[in-house]
Amino acid sequence: MNKHFHVQYDEQQLAWLCFDAADTTTNVLTEQALEELDQQLLGIAQAHPKGLVVFSAKKSGFIAGADVKSFASISSAEAAQKLILRAHDIFHRLEALPFPSVALIHGFCLGGGLELALACRYRIASTDPSTRLGFPEVRLGIFPGFGGSVRSIRLLGHLPAMQMMLSARPVSARAAKRIHLVDYAVPQRQLKNAARKLIEEQPPEHRLTLLQRIPGNIALRPVIARLLRKQVSKRVQQAHYPAPYALIAHWQQHAGNTTGMYASEAQQVSSLLTGETAQNLIRVFLLQDHLKGLAEKSGFKAQQVHVIGGGVMGGDIAAWCVLRGLRVTLQDRAPEYLGHAISRAHGLFRKKLKDRYLLQNAMDRLLPDHLGNGIGKADVVIEAIFEDIDAKQTLYEKIEPQMKAGALLATNTSSIPLEKLAEKLQHPPRLIGLHFFNPVAKMPLVEIVTQPDNPTQLIADAASFAKAIGKLPLPVKSRPGFLVNRVLMPYLLEAVTLLQEGVPAADIDQAAIRFGMPMGPVELADTVGLDICLSVAEKLSETLHNEVPENLRNKVEAGNLGRKSGQGFYVWTKGKAQKEASRATADKLDHYADRMILRLINESMACLREAIVEDADLLDAGIIFGTCYAPFRGGPMHYVEKTGKAEILSKLRKLEYTYGSRFTPDPGWENHSQN
Ligand code: NAI
Repeated sequence: MNKHFHVQYDEQQLAWLCFDAADTTTNVLTEQALEELDQQLLGIAQAHPKGLVVFSAKKSGFIAGADVKSFASISSAEAAQKLILRAHDIFHRLEALPFPSVALIHGFCLGGGLELALACRYRIASTDPSTRLGFPEVRLGIFPGFGGSVRSIRLLGHLPAMQMMLSARPVSARAAKRIHLVDYAVPQRQLKNAARKLIEEQPPEHRLTLLQRIPGNIALRPVIARLLRKQVSKRVQQAHYPAPYALIAHWQQHAGNTTGMYASEAQQVSSLLTGETAQNLIRVFLLQDHLKGLAEKSGFKAQQVHVIGGGVMGGDIAAWCVLRGLRVTLQDRAPEYLGHAISRAHGLFRKKLKDRYLLQNAMDRLLPDHLGNGIGKADVVIEAIFEDIDAKQTLYEKIEPQMKAGALLATNTSSIPLEKLAEKLQHPPRLIGLHFFNPVAKMPLVEIVTQPDNPTQLIADAASFAKAIGKLPLPVKSRPGFLVNRVLMPYLLEAVTLLQEGVPAADIDQAAIRFGMPMGPVELADTVGLDICLSVAEKLSETLHNEVPENLRNKVEAGNLGRKSGQGFYVWTKGKAQKEASRATADKLDHYADRMILRLINESMACLREAIVEDADLLDAGIIFGTCYAPFRGGPMHYVEKTGKAEILSKLRKLEYTYGSRFTPDPGWENHSQN
């Protein structure tokens, strides 16, 4: 009995193989699905139709990729290699069919899904904006392993294929057509007819020109590999992210030898897959799914949103909601306060949408509304006005009676307890926090800030709204700093303390980057704005038992606010911090990193003890998606698991002895049992 692949033959003797993975809304190539595909291919080969068309029954897309969940439990490199070689066999069988095969692609076609499509003789993609083709594997710490590294090069040419695999960036149907990744890009309704025509006509397959084959020349490969490595090294270090470097080496050594390349692909990918980086990145991928899953307990659907406060945050939240397809009314104290927000929104739409018609549509969905006429029609009202208790309370008192029954009332406050803000509402439990991070368009996390009386359904509805606008929802308790700022602040303050001790900013940033942070803390503080850092630090100083370092206060008093004022801890020119190269020894850098990271970890433990988040996995997810904490390390609590609680505690005690009570191990460590 087939659960995933179903075949039908039509009167024109075409076999239509439909992928409709059982019990899920997304097609994923699990081991079971692959075996079923193999069985179906055997049957189809025997039936010998005129052609085979592979398509998906899922609304969400063609195939999302291989089964990432199963990667997390793979026991050894040998077991991984067995699985990969089996997939190779199956895709070889598809490729070797003696009649034409076509993959019909609508929606996402990623990783293993694209590799399956590449094993077909032809590919047709729908021009729908949801259609995306790509190899996201390096983001998971591996590279394409189901024959993709061989077939993509054969089809696209060496450089375009390597760029596609190294960048992990998906392309649209039209872009895929331009680089010959697909044979045709047509509107969705024409996909099936196009497949019939292709099988009927059987045009010659795309072949590379001599020029496109040249980079594969054995004499040129070392030079090109060096250039590719240089390009990659600007983004990631080999010690942290080995996959792109392994892909380049694999290409350099085996391009031109198909058999050797398949064998090397299987061997390299299985060894990467079971390595620490890939396992941690897979963990991050699964945590992301876990956060999305928190939204599933609600059927809440919003069509219209009203945002109050068109400043830095409100303006960008409104623009983001519009970009995700919602209608938004944006309110501020007077019309003149809305101009900036509308022009920033226009910039964002232009960058993201590219198409004039879509851009105009987006602009039409964003309505300046200084009188608040949209309040009564909105499904969600988001308040993002000044961080002032009285102003916010007065506003809620005024708008509550105007709101639709069942509409969400959310605040973007970053520091005021929700219980306090809700005091003057007729129904205080209806207020919930939707804490977005700056810059809204880039940061994937939204903290769903809860007060004890919030109904469970309301929390699920808020999470569902966050997910619907493409953000990852994380429920947190309304305590100072919530989760992300609370944990990030000790790390930043330790960096500022190091500066105060005379350590050069470049050394401090280098120490964090060596640990795996995407940006050093000093540059981060300058980017966020030192005035904002100071205000959060002051609000958290009691909770963190940390005096605000004098040098932070002095900078702000002198008007040196960081990037936005052209000077902070760094001097900024043309949006770039002017940094000198770090000359500190490895030992010194490790010591600085320990001081900063251990404060972050100790505070994470305090948050767990206070149950700010439900568990250590959610904490790790929040810190990774809210602060960009080194993803390849799998999150702070996962780092504790890997390093060992005893070692973390011993380091904390040594630092406590030298630097004082800010390093005192949190009482939560006593009850923490390591898995
Ligand atoms: P902002 O000062 O840039 O913007 C506030 C806007 O609210 C101004 O345009 C102001 O005219 C408007 N406003 C004030 N009172 C109003 C009222 N009664 N009715 C209508 N509009 C009113 O402030 P920002 O930075 O956007 O912060 C807004 C909220 O977001 C604050 O609660 C802040 O704590 C929070 N937040 C800020 C972050 C940041 O990085 N700036 C990050 C996350 C949260």
